[in-house]
Amino acid sequence: MADVSRVADADSLKRAVGIAAAELVDSGMRLGLGTGSTVAHLLVALSERLHAGALVDVVGVPTSLRTAREARDLGIPLTSLTETPVLDLTIDGADEVDPDLNLIKGLGGALLREKMVAQASGRLAIMVDDSKMVPALGTRGPVPVEVVQFGWEIHAPFVKSWGADPVLRLGVDGEPMVTDNGNYILDCHAGGGIDDPKGFDLALHGRAGIVETGFFLGMATEVLVSGPAGVKTLLKGDSTE
Ligand code: A5P
Repeated sequence: MADVSRVADADSLKRAVGIAAAELVDSGMRLGLGTGSTVAHLLVALSERLHAGALVDVVGVPTSLRTAREARDLGIPLTSLTETPVLDLTIDGADEVDPDLNLIKGLGGALLREKMVAQASGRLAIMVDDSKMVPALGTRGPVPVEVVQFGWEIHAPFVKSWGADPVLRLGVDGEPMVTDNGNYILDCHAGGGIDDPKGFDLALHGRAGIVETGFFLGMATEVLVSGPAGVKTLLKGDSTE
């Protein structure tokens, strides 16, 4: 059974970093809005600033149907990537961050739209709690890979040849989880870290049927890390080791 106090601690760290990240937003900004439980806190803090009049003329591109719904419920103005193809700042969560600020994302299943929106931004700010800082990507969990449904099984031997074990992600109903884009997710477990994330990422991109990976390499410009002592900011280029 989950330790309730630990869950509460993790949630307060997410809340603290969500509030800190909302302070990165200035009036007039076109935002990318990530997906996940940390982003949920960001959206609340953002809407509070908007409703207090501290921010005006802000618009966001949501990276998932979930975020679109949450933002709409909070009264945050939304747009699409088609209408607003150039963004000032994207704020998102992540599952792992390495010392060079490379990321694994996608445990929430929104990695494709998250990467498209991040790519449209001059700045990508990531919010994590300190448990997600890792020495090497793949240390804590799998790298999610979005694949088309057709023939998804054929990727397994290829993924295994890179030393990772692919597992089809299932929903709560026990059926394969279908992304907002109508695809499946293969969670590729490396068990103890991936030796060559760049090579693995490139190889995966070379295969027909693989849509996108959860590797976000060289994309984050800043990472806000929430810990018991508060929130600190790591900037790209300032290695943490
Ligand atoms: C969504 O697809 C993911 O990339 C999330 O950003 C990531 O899983 C972090 O989620 P939490 O903020 O819920 O931990």
